[in-house]
Amino acid sequence: MPNIIITGASEGIGAEMARQLARRHGLQAMLVLAARNASRLQSVAAECMALGARTLILPTDVTQADQCRQLIETTVRECGSLDILINNAGISAHALLEQVPVDKLGWYEDLMRVNFWGSVYCTHAALPYLKQSHGRIVAVSSLAGLVGVPGRTAYSASKFAMTGFFEALRTELKDSGVSVTLAYPGVVSTQIRTHGLNAQGEVAGVSGLHEENAMSTQECARLILYGMLRRRREVVMTAKGKVGRWLKLLLPSLVDHMAMAAVKSDFRPGA
Ligand SMILES: NC(=O)c1ccc[n+]([C@@H]2O[C@H](COP(=O)([O-])OP(=O)(O)OC[C@H]3O[C@@H](n4cnc5c(N)ncnc54)[C@H](OP(=O)(O)O)[C@@H]3O)[C@@H](O)[C@H]2O)c1
Repeated sequence: MPNIIITGASEGIGAEMARQLARRHGLQAMLVLAARNASRLQSVAAECMALGARTLILPTDVTQADQCRQLIETTVRECGSLDILINNAGISAHALLEQVPVDKLGWYEDLMRVNFWGSVYCTHAALPYLKQSHGRIVAVSSLAGLVGVPGRTAYSASKFAMTGFFEALRTELKDSGVSVTLAYPGVVSTQIRTHGLNAQGEVAGVSGLHEENAMSTQECARLILYGMLRRRREVVMTAKGKVGRWLKLLLPSLVDHMAMAAVKSDFRPGA
C-alpha cells in the first residue's frame, strides 16, 4: 500500500494529483497532504476521502527545514513507511530584473526558499526511507527550468536549480532502486500567477498571462502521475517544450527569439 506525500497539495496541480491518486488507488493509498493552508488541505482531504482514499493532513511550510523533517518523520511514524515524495510546492513571480528595486531583491531568495530549498529539505529527510522502500521521487519543475524565460529570472533560476539538483541526485541513486522523475509543465490553468510576486515582491493579484491556452490541471496531473508510475526520468509537457529543448542545443538564439515572441503574445499588457 503506497504512502505518498504531496507538497503544495492545498490547491492547483498538487490538489489534483491527490484527487487522481485517490480515484486510482482508493483505500490502497495513504495520501499525506502538505502545504501551509490547513483549511484548504481539509477540503482537498475531504474530496479524496469521498473518492475512497485515506488521508493525513500535515500543515507544513517547506521553507522551514525543521517542518520538512517533521513532515517526513510524522508520515513514517503514522504510516510505517514512505513510498513516494512529490515535491510540488511552488510560487511564481513575474518581473523584469531592471524593474526590481534594490531594496526588494530579497524576494528572489524567498522564492528560491520555496521552489528549491523546500524540495532539498523534504528530499534529504525522505531519502533513507525512500531507499528502504525502493520508492519514487517526483520534482515538479517547469519548462522555465529548461529554457530561460524573460520576465521570469527568479522563477527560471529556481526551476533550473531544481533540475540540476534532481538530475545529480538521480545519478547518485542509480543503484538504489529509487527513481527520480522531473516534470516540466508549460502554462497550466491554476492560480499560481495570481498568487505570484511582482517586481516589489508583493502578491501580484492578477495573472500576467493570457490564460486561455493553458493546459488543464487534470491533464497536467495525469501526465506527471503517468511518468511517476512508470519511473520515467522526465515528463516534458507541450510540443513547444519538447522541440524548444532540443532546438536550444542547435539554434540557441532561435529559442531566445521564440521565448521573447511567446512572452510578447502571451503576456497581458499592464498586468
Ligand atoms: N501552473 C503553472 O502554469 C505551472 C507551470 C509550470 C510549473 N508549475 C509548478 O507546479 C507546481 C504547482 O503549481 P500550481 O500551478 O499548482 O500552483 P498553485 O495552484 O498556486 O499551488 C501552489 C501550492 O504550493 C503551496 N505552497 C506555496 N508556498 C508554500 C510553502 N512555503 N510551503 C508549503 N507549500 C507551499 C500552496 O499552498 P499554501 O499556500 O497552502 O502553502 C499550494 O498548495 C509549482 O512547483 C509550480 O512552480 C506550475
